[in-house]
Amino acid sequence: MCGIIGIVGTRSVQERLIESLKRLEYRGYDSAGVAGVVDGHVQRRRAAGKIRALEEVLAADPLSATVGIGHTRWATHGGPSTRNAHPHTAGRVTLVHNGIIENYAELREMLKAKGRTFESETDTEVIAALIDWELEGGKPPVEALKAALDQLSGAYAIGVLVDGEDNLIMGARKGSPLVVGYGEGEMFLGSDALAVGPFTSRIAYLEEGDYVAIDHAEARIFDARGQAVRREVRQVAASAALVEKGNYRHFMEKEIHDQPEGCQRTIAAYVDPLTGRAAMPGGVDFAALERIQIVGCGTAYIAGLLGKYLMEQLADLPVDVEVASEFRYRDPALRPATLAIGISQSGETADTLAALRLCKSRGMQTAVVVNAQESTMAREVDVVWPIHCGPEIGVASTKAFTAQVSVFTALAVAAARARGRIEAAEEQRLVKILLEAPRLIAESINLEDAVRAVAIEMSKARDVLFLGRGPMYPLALEGALKLKEISYIHAEGYAAGELKHGPIALVDELTPIVILAPFDSYFEKSASNMSEVMARGGQVVFITDPDGEAHAPAGARVVVTAPRCDPLIAPLVMAAPIQLLAYYVAVQKGADVDQPRNLAKSVTVE
Ligand code: F6R
Repeated sequence: MCGIIGIVGTRSVQERLIESLKRLEYRGYDSAGVAGVVDGHVQRRRAAGKIRALEEVLAADPLSATVGIGHTRWATHGGPSTRNAHPHTAGRVTLVHNGIIENYAELREMLKAKGRTFESETDTEVIAALIDWELEGGKPPVEALKAALDQLSGAYAIGVLVDGEDNLIMGARKGSPLVVGYGEGEMFLGSDALAVGPFTSRIAYLEEGDYVAIDHAEARIFDARGQAVRREVRQVAASAALVEKGNYRHFMEKEIHDQPEGCQRTIAAYVDPLTGRAAMPGGVDFAALERIQIVGCGTAYIAGLLGKYLMEQLADLPVDVEVASEFRYRDPALRPATLAIGISQSGETADTLAALRLCKSRGMQTAVVVNAQESTMAREVDVVWPIHCGPEIGVASTKAFTAQVSVFTALAVAAARARGRIEAAEEQRLVKILLEAPRLIAESINLEDAVRAVAIEMSKARDVLFLGRGPMYPLALEGALKLKEISYIHAEGYAAGELKHGPIALVDELTPIVILAPFDSYFEKSASNMSEVMARGGQVVFITDPDGEAHAPAGARVVVTAPRCDPLIAPLVMAAPIQLLAYYVAVQKGADVDQPRNLAKSVTVE
């Protein structure tokens, strides 16, 4: 949820802390702060708002430290003010935190009873106060840290400075990720590989319950029981180029345009163009499976819905899909012959992770379709099916979505073959169709100008409805989600067949109705819905293909004509127009496309 960085450097760290925080801004951007050791004492600078506000503070009052920590915040306990911004200080201890301390209220009362006072409303400040309390009791810093950690319940990744220690940063992780970066005479701590990417590519991922002390020369890592441990140092590719915007105005715009390549790389990992076979590595026996349970949140959940449509239709494999936050708490009926598949761009979403852990604890085989291959989910499940679309920085997910759907398309074909539902020739035909998707997605992105024109008009709307049938229904949900999250226009996605069961009451001349309807087996039904909406004065934006355009009832306000394609890949090809629509509506409204209000890219707290 928040991003943290720590540097034990040999030269000034101010600029590098800021560079890293900018890379971490995708995790939250309510406030930011840094702290460093100056002449043996810790100083901090903080600002409400985005990193640029902190930069202004630092321009007026630089921090001349070679050892420092930084934080970008997504507020949970306490509003997004400077007072609540990290780092938080208590006595000799200054720290940054990502996560939620569940027992902070009790700890705060306990510390208040000992005479401690608090200056913020955050849960984080109690961690600092607790460590400081242990230091006061005479423990050396690492022991004081361990004693404090033992009293915390909840999730945390922390970076800690201690006044008087000018060659030390301590860290710890439980429930929130933390990496150690190994440089040349310098050491780093960060929320992820991107955070330390500009400084080093040699990284160790801390494991659950680990804590660490880094200095110029080394990292001393301990496990939850306090035993010294070694964690593998890996070479990680987090190329700077992958997180640059290039010539695009926003990351979201760039990432929409990245999709042909992202899908191509992803598809290439799961199908062989020469043999025409689809193969899912990891040894899942699809023939023996009785059921698949998919869990995810937001856009990832919607990708899962498309997975269900694909797998049930092609492989005759029963699939349940559920939002992870519901699944994990409602005591679902789980059976061992079910494969649990999590979907997550970040691999860190707290609810999805908890849902997968629940499945694992019930003896189910677990898999994840994930972008961050070093993430907690990727490390915990039995089978990892990576997407290969590169880092996604824009908060609104775009290229991860189409890459996830690409994986499910290959998976459905592979499962269909394994379960004897299709022969080799049909598998080859389907693989050939899937391989056409990147080119057709690129053609679909070329509709940009037409979509921009629709967006300019739509930006004045108060409400927008998205309708679709079959695989276009999940896409209607995704269109509505994209629009509301970045343009703040109220939008609803509905199965078009549900129109008459309620939402038709919303139709008036002011409400744009986006109908997604390629010329497939559902087309006639969708065309009737279009007529029903128009008969009530609704302003229809019809997103279809050339055959759909030819057969559509007259009267749509706008028709956007995507390229003709096989129904197998229609969700991939039709995704770009709805993403571009949301994007250009948000741009037209002057909204902050890459960092919409109240959101964060990675939701590592529930
Ligand atoms: C919407 C969006 C979110 C994420 C959701 C899950 O555009 O990006 O709905 O899809 O927060 O995140 P991951 O995929 O990281 O688990």
